[in-house]
Amino acid sequence: MKTEIYKRIIQTIYNITIDIGRHGRMHSADQIRDIIHSTNDDHIKCKEWLASELRKSQIYFKDPKILVGGGWTGLMAHLLDETFTNASSILSVDLLQHHKDVGVQIFPHIKFDTTNVFEYSLQDFDIFVSTSVEHFNREELQFFLQDKPAQVICALQSNNWYDIEDHTNCSDTLEDFIEYLPLKKIIYSGSKRMMDTYDRFMVIGK
Ligand SMILES: C[S@@+](CC[C@H](N)C(=O)[O-])C[C@H]1O[C@@H](n2cnc3c(N)ncnc32)[C@H](O)[C@@H]1O
Repeated sequence: MKTEIYKRIIQTIYNITIDIGRHGRMHSADQIRDIIHSTNDDHIKCKEWLASELRKSQIYFKDPKILVGGGWTGLMAHLLDETFTNASSILSVDLLQHHKDVGVQIFPHIKFDTTNVFEYSLQDFDIFVSTSVEHFNREELQFFLQDKPAQVICALQSNNWYDIEDHTNCSDTLEDFIEYLPLKKIIYSGSKRMMDTYDRFMVIGK
């Protein structure tokens, strides 16, 4: 990642520490940890993996509209922005406002929204991306994908890391992950062993 982004990460952390001084916001330590976590090397690696496989597979769109669900502080949207210089729009959607507050400081060129991503419709996009599938409600995700136009490409990552409290939608294996996704055609699937602890699965399909 470029030096200027690391500089903005440091500035964002600095801004939070000023906030602690003013408001005594103890939870700011969690926010700082989250910023560092969301932009660490493992997350860069997984998201670069997605952007590069998606680049290879999405040959049909001249200027795609991309929706990122569970976009956290915006790293996935940023890497897509670097990879798909032809994208007409990239929107990073997350449930939590504080991720947007941080994201706009680190990635000012990215558009963020704070809401349930399933409030959107895939009628309005060409590509749906999420590296947060292990956090989603499975039925909501299935319903969302069932309704999508046939040409919309989905690039999704999940994992089998059950130990994390928020991981309410893990899959045991790549095959289990593929099985519950209502996709008619799988363009790419693969898995990566992470930190010798869990497997991250990726599916690109439509
Ligand atoms: C911890 S983060 C990202 C983890 C993921 N493994 C990654 O590397 O990108 C998961 C995010 O998904 C968000 N999230 C969960 N369900 C969501 C939903 N229905 N709509 C939007 N964001 C959602 C959470 O707020 C959280 O910021």
